[in-house]
Amino acid sequence: MEDYTLFLIKPDSTVKNHIGAILKIIEEHGFVIKEMKMFRMDRKFADRFYEIHKGKDFYDNLIKFMTSGRTVATVLYRKNAINELRKVIGKTDYHETKPETIRRIYGETITRNAVHASDSPENAKEEILKVFPYFKFKE
Ligand code: CDP
Ligand code: MG
Repeated sequence: MEDYTLFLIKPDSTVKNHIGAILKIIEEHGFVIKEMKMFRMDRKFADRFYEIHKGKDFYDNLIKFMTSGRTVATVLYRKNAINELRKVIGKTDYHETKPETIRRIYGETITRNAVHASDSPENAKEEILKVFPYFKFKE
């Protein structure tokens, strides 16, 4: 299942009209957009989505940010999508990441870092089904 991943364009990017530019980079890297929707996370959804980070020092900040505006959520497909997408987005802290990565170009702070990408096949499956419960994974 390493060929499917959940990709989010976070509220800092949607509010600055960077949706199109970011999706262009994604498509140029060979990812196929299999599902897409735009919505604003409520507290309940954000808590469920980020439950693995509960209790961490940045948690409240993260939830406040993610509920502050609209998110574009997509399921992306390509060979080895999870690892390849993590390379394209760069590290969590945009300061530390490579110049050509999405977070380096569009991130503002370690929290407001433009995008989300799943980090493992287990998390990708869980995250995809949290946003798109009807999604069917194919071989
Ligand atoms: O998103 P990524 O998998 O790179 O990082 P994470 O460790 O799973 O953290 C999830 C999100 O929490 C990050 O993308 C940041 O928005 C936020 N975060 C933060 O605000 N401060 C930190 N020290 C670490 C993460
Ligand atoms: Mg993560």
